Amino acid sequence: MRTDTKLTTLLLGVVAVATSLQSQSATDVTAWPNIIPPTSESALLGWLNKGSYKENFIPEPKVHPSPVHGTVRTYYNPIIAGDLHAKRKAFRKGAAMVKELYSNGKVTGYAVMVKALKNTKPAGSAWLFYETFSKTGPSAIFGRGAPECAGCHKKGTDFLLSTFRPYK
Ligand code: HEC
Repeated sequence: MRTDTKLTTLLLGVVAVATSLQSQSATDVTAWPNIIPPTSESALLGWLNKGSYKENFIPEPKVHPSPVHGTVRTYYNPIIAGDLHAKRKAFRKGAAMVKELYSNGKVTGYAVMVKALKNTKPAGSAWLFYETFSKTGPSAIFGRGAPECAGCHKKGTDFLLSTFRPYK
């Protein structure tokens, strides 16, 4: 092989690696920080209190009244946002929604859903549900397929009930 051909081959190789790294980091949102909430109860509460979801989640434009959950603002992670954009009817593992629960203009609790497993069973056992009305978490509801939540959320699109779509 002539030296200039070798050099061209080498350069093409470098470009190919650089391109594949770039496209990987652009599409693999799961590698971004704070995309998937922790799935142990105390770690999850700490993560919420730190406001970690605000780093990369997409919020509803405003705090608003919910028919069920009081006064709320919901944030979607980029996994469910991508799924909705692609019109998927079942969301990928890692899809997550965080709902801030407000009283007197302040966040006083959270309701959270994380798709912890790939397939949604009819009972919603793929989804981890969490709700606390206090930032310290006593008597919180926590569990995959928690019947208090799944019973109502099963009416939704893969358990999603909000009509918010994070794109125009
Ligand atoms: C009686 C019905 C009902 C029950 C029970 C219920 N929810 Fe919801 N939930 C709703 C509705 C309706 C919405 C969409 C409107 C809104 O609140 O913004 C919603 C929205 C949400 C959202 C935002 C994502 C989405 O699906 O729209 C989360 C997160 C959530 N609920 C968590 C929970 C958790 C956790 C529980 C159990 C502790 C629970 N919900 C129990 C009716 C219910």
